[in-house]
Amino acid sequence: MEIKNKVVVVTGATSGIGQACALIFGKAGAKIWITGRSRVKLDETLLLLQKEGVECGGEVCDAAKAEHNEKMAHDVIRHYGKIDILINNAGISMRALFRDLDLKVFHQVMDINFWGTVYATKYCMEEIIKNKGAIIGVSSINGFRGTPARTAYTASKFAMNGFLEALRTEVMKLGVHVLVVCPGFTASNIRNNALTADGSPQEESPRDEEKMMTADQVAEAILKALIKGKRDLVLTRQGKLASFLNKWVPGIMDQVVYNHMAKEKDSPFK
Ligand SMILES: NC(=O)c1ccc[n+]([C@@H]2O[C@H](COP(=O)([O-])OP(=O)(O)OC[C@H]3O[C@@H](n4cnc5c(N)ncnc54)[C@H](OP(=O)(O)O)[C@@H]3O)[C@@H](O)[C@H]2O)c1
Repeated sequence: MEIKNKVVVVTGATSGIGQACALIFGKAGAKIWITGRSRVKLDETLLLLQKEGVECGGEVCDAAKAEHNEKMAHDVIRHYGKIDILINNAGISMRALFRDLDLKVFHQVMDINFWGTVYATKYCMEEIIKNKGAIIGVSSINGFRGTPARTAYTASKFAMNGFLEALRTEVMKLGVHVLVVCPGFTASNIRNNALTADGSPQEESPRDEEKMMTADQVAEAILKALIKGKRDLVLTRQGKLASFLNKWVPGIMDQVVYNHMAKEKDSPFK
């Protein structure tokens, strides 16, 4: 797929992987539309993109609200005249044992990660079909392998993967490409903003962010995978190994994942 002059919508692009995608797709010649909930972070990101010579616009849009997504799709068409590529990236994580977790937190995670993907896709879809474009979902290794103390996050990512696989098959004769991206641990704000049992952010990352893949590396891999027309993209050596082992020895993986996650700082289980 050619990127130049394509109109690319990136949800949750005011930080991390989304911001890196906006930059790399913009530098490749795409016209970018970004969203996020914070006006301040949105304006800062637009300024950063403009400084890099990227043609861009954007708006405050809560992924979890259907009406915000509907307005967003209309605004992009009004501004650029079309939508070619949608990158469903907006996401939030959580960390708590399910037995302690307030169900409102479960709903919040599903509303942003899963329903946010459904809403944005629904409202951008007709344009993407018209332009034989692409729908990308930034899922996670948790889209095919669960992690303890991340039940809501895992459920939201499995749901994303199922939705996008069914949709891919539905639109494959219409010239629309669907790419599911499963990053491994990536340095970003996701763990600082992750919700705890009562819905308050955990603030401090329990992992060493410096040892992780960078958001720029993830964005570059996403751009390359789209250009090559790849169906799935699983990132990090650890993520690829998890994918392989979970397919063939899922019982052993239960132990491996438990032991690995129990070593996290302040793990809620041991
Ligand atoms: N980092 C990792 O280790 C990792 C691994 C696998 C998958 N992922 C996935 O990658 C995606 C991006 O995460 P990241 O790591 O780049 O995290 P991040 O740095 O925290 O960025 C998340 C972005 O999503 C936006 N966002 C959150 N809730 C939103 C909502 N309701 N509506 C609109 N925007 C919203 C945030 O902006 P506002 O807060 O201003 O709204 C921010 O721009 C997520 O879907 C995440 O699940 C990340």
